[in-house]
Amino acid sequence: MTEFTLMAPCHFGLEAVLRREIQDLGYEITEVENGRVMFCGGPDAVCRANMFLRTTERVMIKVGDFHADTFEELFQGTKAIPWEEYLPKDAKCWVKKASCINSKLHAPSSIQSMMKKAIATRWSEKLGLSSMPETGEEYPLRVFLNRDRVTVGLDTSGDSLHKRGYRLLQGAAPITETLAAALILLTPWHPDRILVDPFCGSGTFPIEAAMIAAGIAPGMNREFLAEKWTNLIPRNLWYDAADEAQSMVRENVDVDIQGYDIDGEIVQAARANAGRAGVEKLIHFQQRPVANLSHPKKYGFIITNPPYGERMEDRKNLPVLYRTLGERFRALDSWSMFVITSYEDAERWIGRKADKNRKIYNGMMKTYFYQFMGPKPPRRKREDRA
Ligand SMILES: C[S@@+](CC[C@H](N)C(=O)[O-])C[C@H]1O[C@@H](n2cnc3c(N)ncnc32)[C@H](O)[C@@H]1O
Repeated sequence: MTEFTLMAPCHFGLEAVLRREIQDLGYEITEVENGRVMFCGGPDAVCRANMFLRTTERVMIKVGDFHADTFEELFQGTKAIPWEEYLPKDAKCWVKKASCINSKLHAPSSIQSMMKKAIATRWSEKLGLSSMPETGEEYPLRVFLNRDRVTVGLDTSGDSLHKRGYRLLQGAAPITETLAAALILLTPWHPDRILVDPFCGSGTFPIEAAMIAAGIAPGMNREFLAEKWTNLIPRNLWYDAADEAQSMVRENVDVDIQGYDIDGEIVQAARANAGRAGVEKLIHFQQRPVANLSHPKKYGFIITNPPYGERMEDRKNLPVLYRTLGERFRALDSWSMFVITSYEDAERWIGRKADKNRKIYNGMMKTYFYQFMGPKPPRRKREDRA
């Protein structure tokens, strides 16, 4: 079977979470860079990675990796890629996105047109076609230039993988599904522990946690672009991945996951989103201000994304809001709390320095993931666990 090098991008700072997910799927990691993990696998890995990875935005096949600091080098490097091994004759192939960091070539549109010309030239030399017919399936490319090193990826996912298909309704500042999943997987939360999001908005944290608990693969309710690439990936491998995903779903899981928000409409939206994700029975959503946050049990987790002053007029309310969150957290017995926010004064108003703090880039926005660790629950005796 053909062996590919696959590339999966992730949020800067969360590479270790994606790396662990890929290893858990059984693939060998070949390289970890800022915001990207590379691994190897055959066509089946393309299907399984798209279906099961919760924390990447897309899965790409690496088709080229070369140095170019002039357009001539870019042309020759692109032309040298064995495109006919990846594309059928009638493929519609183009550079969908070019990103450049610290490189001599830095104009995306010029890079796009030069690479397109190079592919068409190879097509005419190898296949004797004066132009690419482009009447077939789409094979979009994503190109990264970093210090004049050009990496070329063939995008197998199509729509970003954060689009799981469940979040049709959302509020003003939703967190992406992939980032929410990565943050949950970064914490020690486990489905047998309580999870509460007091600022749940459209429900992303509770829904992602419930999907993890129920073993629902993130790609179960969507399609992937490479499903149409029968020249590279036999159809039965997609069916195998879907069967595997179906077999992993755990019915009747027992969890305590709750989502609250002050806005009644967004709570209804969260419920509808959970319904589409197939986890509505696993989450208790309720309209409730953070000032009323309480729980009778010990050792729970708050994982949340409070307002961070998205609108200037809201910024003045942040000290009171974060102070209230801190007070309610202290009133909970032996809980842990994890807060992602770009609000720089969060610790000051919460009233405690975080035990750990991780900088995470959410797109261009610098955010912090504050981790306030509570005690671990006592280990249950063997007979209790049986
Ligand atoms: C940044 S958004 C959370 C987005 C959410 N993570 C998502 O993916 O949709 C913050 C949320 O806090 C809610 N909120 C604002 N003040 C609140 C309060 N005092 N108590 C509870 N929720 C509040 C807002 O209605 C909003 O939905």
